[in-house]
Amino acid sequence: MSAFTIALLDGDGIGPEIMSEAVKILRLAESRNSGNSSNCLELELQHGAFGASAWFCHGDPFPEATRELCDRAGAILKGPIGLDHERTEQIPVDMRPERGALLPLRQRFDTFANFRPVRLAGGLRHFSPLKPAVIGAGIDIMLIRELVGGLYFGAKETGRRADGRRYVRESLEYDDAQIERIARVAFETARSRKGVLHNIHKSNVLKSSVLWNEVLGEVGREFADVELRHVLVDAAATYLCLDPGQFDVMVMENMFGDILSDQAGGILGSLGLMPSACLGPDKAYYEPSHGSAPDIAGRNVANPYSMIGSVAMLLEQSLGLKAEADHVWRAMRAVFDQGYVTADLARQGSKARTIGTSAFGDLVAEHYATAPGPA
Ligand code: NAD
Ligand code: IPM
Ligand code: MN
Repeated sequence: MSAFTIALLDGDGIGPEIMSEAVKILRLAESRNSGNSSNCLELELQHGAFGASAWFCHGDPFPEATRELCDRAGAILKGPIGLDHERTEQIPVDMRPERGALLPLRQRFDTFANFRPVRLAGGLRHFSPLKPAVIGAGIDIMLIRELVGGLYFGAKETGRRADGRRYVRESLEYDDAQIERIARVAFETARSRKGVLHNIHKSNVLKSSVLWNEVLGEVGREFADVELRHVLVDAAATYLCLDPGQFDVMVMENMFGDILSDQAGGILGSLGLMPSACLGPDKAYYEPSHGSAPDIAGRNVANPYSMIGSVAMLLEQSLGLKAEADHVWRAMRAVFDQGYVTADLARQGSKARTIGTSAFGDLVAEHYATAPGPA
């Protein structure tokens, strides 16, 4: 079997620190699965410049060499990109890493289906700011965000009107095919879980949501076994705090998904607990849902869970190694169960020992190394 190439885009801020921990886990997955020649996993891990660091070094946040690497790769693992507000302003608007690298990456590989798991085991409910009674047995939501449409990619125009006023116009655009494909992914996910799909929309105001709901209803007819429930996005934000247990699979357009997924990180207790997978028709890329955390970058304090969780999603979705992925999730859980936390999860009055980024990665690797080997 030839080597499977993974493009590693370290990104900015805490990106390189959490990527190092992800690489430890990938190398371990490789060595655990290199045993027999008929099914031998060989990984070629290649770093590519991406984000603000690429702009400062190469004058391009998504250099041609990185684009070629991503084209060649079987999957892409990406760290967060971006800088703090002041440093961002040093970069021309269209070269800033969000507009100049991340959105083009999503567009290039048409990664329309963004899975953002929102999970907190009942035993870890003390991480959450919500009361234990609200969390109950734990939180387990699959938030599915449409990732290549809507306001992010619609027509944009800025200018000055005849009366001298500056104006901006950005349009929220979807066609039925774009909605249909994400709806299908969402219904299938709901079918494989509890058979309930929450559709998050704003059809009381937005025409885009009217079409969105119409298409969801049409696709829903093929999924008679899945119950479709409609919730307005503003109310959904409240329900996420008051009663997250009512949700299992949620689907929504791009911008709603951006905002609600950060809120979901909040109810878990940290954005550091939010990995994600971004799936397209031919390629997938994996990234934490959060940003580059400039406030804590370079101090070995970031939580690498989101990045290692993204590796677990890669192992399952791109390499078909579901059992290995489960071992990685369990290994991270074991580290918490041993009483270790990273600084973002340290809580006053708790006896948990706070450890750094690399120590967390080492402990996860230790647990993963002792998991039962592949059959
Ligand atoms: P952020 O997500 O970087 O940080 C918000 C808060 O969460 C900060 O307090 C940060 O310290 C904390 N946090 C985030 N990840 C953490 C982790 N793994 N461990 C511990 N704490 C963590 O949001 P921001 O500060 O608004 O944005 C910073 C930059 O990141 C911006 O330039 C933004 O555009 C960019 N961004 C990039 C991505 C991406 O690459 N997908 C996602 C979101 C934001
Ligand atoms: C995310 C981020 C990005 C988004 C930014 C950095 C462009 O916030 O992945 O959630 O808004 O999609
Ligand atoms: Mn976001």
